[in-house]
Amino acid sequence: MAEWSAMIRRKGDRIGFVPTMGALHQGHLELVSQAMEECGKVVCSIFVNPLQFNDLKDLERYPRQLEKDRELLAGIGCHALFIPKDSQLFLGLVPREHNMGGLELLWEGASRPGHFQGVVNVVERLFHYVRPDRAYFGEKDRQQLSVIRHVAREERWPEMIVPCRTRRAPDGLALSSRNSLLSVEQRKQATVLHRALRAAASVAFAHSLKATSEVALMILGTEPGIRLDHFGIVDPVSLKPLESWEGTDRAVALIAAYAGEIRLIDNLTLDR
Ligand code: PAF
Repeated sequence: MAEWSAMIRRKGDRIGFVPTMGALHQGHLELVSQAMEECGKVVCSIFVNPLQFNDLKDLERYPRQLEKDRELLAGIGCHALFIPKDSQLFLGLVPREHNMGGLELLWEGASRPGHFQGVVNVVERLFHYVRPDRAYFGEKDRQQLSVIRHVAREERWPEMIVPCRTRRAPDGLALSSRNSLLSVEQRKQATVLHRALRAAASVAFAHSLKATSEVALMILGTEPGIRLDHFGIVDPVSLKPLESWEGTDRAVALIAAYAGEIRLIDNLTLDR
């Protein structure tokens, strides 16, 4: 991979990179398409990263569909697919603790200890092989995006981190590889995450922050099949919970919940 990247670079082309864990959906394909518009050559990687799973069952059941993924990427003309082996990617690597400014301890980090260190360690390794100019990450994983941007700034990574908006199904459910694990019933129930976020957005800034959270939680409560992990209205940069709307025109509502065993996350920007 590194030689291929070096050759592309010698030719003067910009390399765009879309790191994934596979089980690709339309959201991933749009990241690749955006990268193809902005870069001469685009690499997608598929690697189910054991370092970022703190629950072995979650790792085992993570959806895998390599042949279909290959076809999807070929279908949209992605230039290269990087599928590293564990042994190759982590050769000689002792995972290290990155300074994430405390972002890694909030929300997803509190529920999944070590998750973001695992993400950043693998992203760093993938960047090492692919050497991209620009790397594309979905806003659905809002906290992941914040963490990666923070580390990229702190450690002066040369890659530009490009955020891409969340893609949704027509009923509002954020596209996610994990959706393929949902039963038909759970798939319907899962739409409550987006409905709760929308409800929060519809009253945000007009009503108190507490009332806004209550509206979202009330909507979530209408779906007994969904078990809430966390809901928060946060500062878009620090991701710290807001106490009130004072002095802010923009916030983000974050949510994580379980449909059966399947963990789902989503978020929505709230504008004044
Ligand atoms: O967002 C993902 O799919 C993963 O967390 C990533 C960035 C590919 C690292 O394994």
